[in-house]
Amino acid sequence: MKVPLIDLVRQYEVLRDEIDEAIRRVVESGRFIGGPEVESLEEEVAEYLGVKYAVGVASGTDALWLSLMALGVGPGDEVVTTPFTFVATAEVVALLGARPVFVDIDPRTYCMDPGKVEEAVTPRTKVIVPVHLFGQPVDWDPIEEVAKRHDLFLVEDGAQAIGAEYKGRRTCSLGHLGCLSFFPTKNLGAYGDGGMVTTDDPELAEKLRVLRTHGAKEKYVHRLVGTNSRLDALQAAVLRAKLPHIDGWNERRREIAAKYDEILKDLDSVTTPYVMPECTHVYHQYTVLVKERDEVRRRLAEAGVATAVHYPIPLHLQEAFRYLGYKEGDFPVAERVSREVLSLPIFPELSDDEVRYVAERLVEAVGA
Ligand SMILES: Cc1ncc(COP(=O)(O)O)c(C=O)c1O
Repeated sequence: MKVPLIDLVRQYEVLRDEIDEAIRRVVESGRFIGGPEVESLEEEVAEYLGVKYAVGVASGTDALWLSLMALGVGPGDEVVTTPFTFVATAEVVALLGARPVFVDIDPRTYCMDPGKVEEAVTPRTKVIVPVHLFGQPVDWDPIEEVAKRHDLFLVEDGAQAIGAEYKGRRTCSLGHLGCLSFFPTKNLGAYGDGGMVTTDDPELAEKLRVLRTHGAKEKYVHRLVGTNSRLDALQAAVLRAKLPHIDGWNERRREIAAKYDEILKDLDSVTTPYVMPECTHVYHQYTVLVKERDEVRRRLAEAGVATAVHYPIPLHLQEAFRYLGYKEGDFPVAERVSREVLSLPIFPELSDDEVRYVAERLVEAVGA
């Protein structure tokens, strides 16, 4: 058997009629930028998450970038975040001329360690950007307390966590701003790039709408220096066809995770994902820790099982961030986890037989 890491065509085959109809609707309307599809998706996502406003943008990276821009982040500012995330989270801070400041991660959740946030705060800190990594909400309340004590903004990187809940509230409804990615492989994926910023603040929502269209509300009248970062209508229409299915898909991801957990739970050499109490995980990734990861990965590949490493090098040790002056040993948990993480195939259309095959091959690969 060969098991892919993800297969987007299987989902299309199930939804073919709805998606073909959505695409046809846009092509026949002749409106490809903005318009009713984007506006409707913004309303539907805002309602789904329980926020007042959602602003469609060109990608998850742009959602983060425009969020920090809307908060006025620039040279001299510091933004506290995690070194164990996709590069975009910190990249946008640097692009705005501000400084990413990292804090180590919780060894169980792999998200920012709430107990380490306050020591990273300085008089220059403006924003904290926690990441709901792999689909699990970060432990929000203690981070929010720090933000309140120091009068800081909170921007959620919810790119991997649409539908996840923290104490009954959905991710991307917790902070001042929430950032979503609709990259095709995300739990809610477009057929190209896409992203969204969510907020309850009408002024921030308005500023984001202006920033995404070259700083202009009225055509050719530019109030701010902005950019071109629009969600296009074809992507919005595809996402509208998919949004009603997201809870069912996330439920199936949890079912797959439970099957993996069951088969792997007694292995000393494999650590299965931890789920925080009062939270729902949406398993954008099912990521285990395993010693001699690269050898195990090679054995799985030989058995036809595709895997991935999210992420092999923590951001503080990336060449692009060398100028920040961090060194090996600064964030030992992130460094250890980076050496041991291995993501197994997980997507809603994966069959029970495939799940069992993957788990059993992992049991063999670790020599148990
Ligand atoms: C945690 C995280 N943040 C940000 C992004 C950036 O999103 P996009 O690829 O849509 O730009 C991603 C997606 O790859 C991500 O996983």
